[in-house]
Amino acid sequence: MNTLVIGSQWGDEGKGKVIDFLTETADVVARSQGGSNAGHTVIAKGQKYVLHLIPSGILWEGKVNIIGNGVVINPTSLVEEIEYLRDKGVTISPANLLISDRAHVVLPIHKEIDAAQEEALGDQKIGTTKQGIGPTYADKARRVGLRMIDLADPVRLEKVLKARIKTANEELVRLGWPEADPKVTLDAVMTAADVLRPHITNTIPVINNAIKAGKTVLFEGAQGAMLDIDFGTYPFVTSSNTSAGGCCTGSGVAPTRIDKIIGVCKAYTTRVGEGPFVTEDDEIGDYLHGLGREFGATTGRPRRCGWTDGVVLRFSAMFNGFDEMAMTNLDGLDEIENIKICTGYRMGDEVLEYPPALMEDWAKCEPIYETVPGWMQDISSCTTWEELPENCKAYVKRFGEIVGCPVGSVGVGPDREQTITVPLN
Ligand code: GDP
Ligand code: IMO
Ligand code: MG
Repeated sequence: MNTLVIGSQWGDEGKGKVIDFLTETADVVARSQGGSNAGHTVIAKGQKYVLHLIPSGILWEGKVNIIGNGVVINPTSLVEEIEYLRDKGVTISPANLLISDRAHVVLPIHKEIDAAQEEALGDQKIGTTKQGIGPTYADKARRVGLRMIDLADPVRLEKVLKARIKTANEELVRLGWPEADPKVTLDAVMTAADVLRPHITNTIPVINNAIKAGKTVLFEGAQGAMLDIDFGTYPFVTSSNTSAGGCCTGSGVAPTRIDKIIGVCKAYTTRVGEGPFVTEDDEIGDYLHGLGREFGATTGRPRRCGWTDGVVLRFSAMFNGFDEMAMTNLDGLDEIENIKICTGYRMGDEVLEYPPALMEDWAKCEPIYETVPGWMQDISSCTTWEELPENCKAYVKRFGEIVGCPVGSVGVGPDREQTITVPLN
């Protein structure tokens, strides 16, 4: 049984926690897209880990973790993450961490371009994580990028890196930006390459042979469906396919090998960065921030918060082919008396079931809400579906109806153990 776990909203749905929970019964955990823009939090045995590039399966012993060809890797960030995990007692070796030789490399120059582009956009900025993600994927599409295979031979690496820095600096000068220091880039990449070299391999036969041998593979999505470059709130998106299709192109596994697709969603909605957010609500945002919740795992930025958006989730469930939803942060609604769920958008005289494509149309959309009664009690110590208050169970079931996809589990706290299976009938 190979399972794909995808964020169904705008990221930070709790994918790390869900992956960690499912890893117990998996053999291989693979990332297929994104880069260190991701921040996946796992709380296991009282210890908190935030993972950016390394699959969350690394926290379990004896699992093979793969960073697939579709991921963009900043070698220095990856080395720092390996050291961060080792400091916390996690064992990392070429036996449990494999890096695709075809994954593209994020260079310091990409981060500079990312920051400069954001600055140039002024109040039209995307609100990127400034990790160089967009410029690296742009280079991949322009066929000028470096790949992890280029790190394999130090002599060759120096040559290709010098050539790439030269052309990148010419581009920067043309754009009126200062040149990057070639020595800084060279030193950083060469040093990190020495650490990463033993982990770099052709991961495609590894993952496919594991599947052939009957092993269980878990695919860890990054970001969320509405940040997908094709289906999201373009241009306020990231630069990869965060949806189900990205898993196949980013790992070299055929769609026919995926058995189950789980959409992770919060019991409400959050978004970091700019862009449309029809159900945004400052009152619920202030309330959640007051509880110390909803601050970005990568940037520390307060996340924008709002009610569940059935339009977004319905669309997301459709283009991702979700078999079930894994709802997290249900406990975040414990003290809300009247909970709103958006069932449609009103755009002028029209009622929309699915999101519009055009930014100007997004701006015209108003949420149509249904209100359901809250449960007004602490559910964080509940361990079974039966124990949950009736209003809470009714909310979860109604949520599934509006989205058109059943909720298969709910999270009642951040810890590995705080996950409750929901009967699907
Ligand atoms: P990811 O990027 O999708 O992995 O999500 P993040 O780690 O960025 O953000 C999710 C946040 O919600 C983290 O702080 C998690 O520890 C927390 N979290 C996940 N599930 C639950 C839950 O069921 N209840 C509570 N209280 N926190 C949760
Ligand atoms: P995880 O995996 C939330 C957002 C940024 C910005 C947009 C583009 O933790 O859910 P980028 O740096 O990718 O070019 O930024 O995408 N973004 C995320 N938001 N969670 C993430 O990852 C995100 N990764 C990127 O905030 O709006
Ligand atoms: Mg996150």
